[in-house]
Amino acid sequence: MFNIQTVAEGIVYVGASDRRLAKFENLFPIPRGVSYNSYLIVDDKTALMDTADAGVGAQFLENVTAALAGRALDYLVIDHMEPDHAAMIEAVLLRWPGVQLVCNAKTVPMLRMYFPAGEEKIANALLVKEGDTLELGHHTLSFVMAPMVHWPEVMMTYESTTGTLFSADAFGTFGALDGAIFADEVEFETRWLDDARRYYANIVGKYGVQVQGVLKKAAALDIRTIAPLHGPIWRKDLAWFLGKYDLWSRCEPEQKSVTVLYGSMYGNTASAANALAARIAAKGVPVAVHDLSCIDNSEAVAECWRSAVIVLAAPTYNGGIYLPAEQLLSDLKALGLHDRTFALVENGSWAPMSAKLMAAKIGELKNCTVLEQKVTVRGRLTAAQDAELDACAEAVAASL
Ligand code: FEO
Repeated sequence: MFNIQTVAEGIVYVGASDRRLAKFENLFPIPRGVSYNSYLIVDDKTALMDTADAGVGAQFLENVTAALAGRALDYLVIDHMEPDHAAMIEAVLLRWPGVQLVCNAKTVPMLRMYFPAGEEKIANALLVKEGDTLELGHHTLSFVMAPMVHWPEVMMTYESTTGTLFSADAFGTFGALDGAIFADEVEFETRWLDDARRYYANIVGKYGVQVQGVLKKAAALDIRTIAPLHGPIWRKDLAWFLGKYDLWSRCEPEQKSVTVLYGSMYGNTASAANALAARIAAKGVPVAVHDLSCIDNSEAVAECWRSAVIVLAAPTYNGGIYLPAEQLLSDLKALGLHDRTFALVENGSWAPMSAKLMAAKIGELKNCTVLEQKVTVRGRLTAAQDAELDACAEAVAASL
């Protein structure tokens, strides 16, 4: 059965959600699933805004067919070529052979990579560049280039009559849509925000400078609806979510808060991390504590984006850093986390090395500081280390 909903006048949601996929990009756990959003504009001309992942392909095609209600499909606008949105392009070309592709020049080589059989359509694509417009009748599209948000060919499409920005991956989130398609119809702050932050930090986080560039362009548009490629659509409280994106893309913490992330084999490093967390919390500072072996790395990355100070606690392992902490630090470097303060807790039964090694890796992050007041555990934390813990907690609180 088709499942379509009205987004704005003449704009129909034709995307679909996948709750069977375990990991997005085969990397990031998505226990709440994910939606692949696509939109059909029905006017004198019809235009489909991106397609969908193959995992929801049948539902997507049924939705587009229903929304067209027997009309021909005139345009397929390709804002993003990643296969979670582009996988159904070939199926669309086969089902609606009269369609014309609309894309920018950087998209063309990617179309040839993924759809070598579509050369005739690719050669006849309508190539657009920044500021170009396409009249559909009542609706008018204009194109906003957004390279590296999150691939080089990405663009956003703005529809001026309804004030709808088709924002590609930007403003997206993990999570299947549970019937409601609008952010104001769901408990976004309590049920979705953590997944939105995790999506941002892990998928788009590396490209904060480019996101800032797009936010500046967006400020010049009269945006009444933000229609991303994943997750709920924004038609109310846009400023609130734009504010989150502004913070995230500048890599500014959302709160003056502390996240304690520990790796621990037998519970002794965990005990030290918890003891330190209690002393920090006693100073009135919000603290979150996570075991790196029990949460996904993508959650730890998101917590680093959220918090101002990160306490990283890890044993020394094979003369190096206990692997979950090492993996986190590698990802933080790859994703470009910057401007954070770190405090370190190390453990080593015979040769504690992990603080020195973690500090070296943190030194590779831009504008990140490691507090001098570390805690060194030799096997188990002892009562004699009260002063060491207090000094570290004091330094953490003072750094906020
Ligand atoms: Fe949702 Fe970059 O694809």
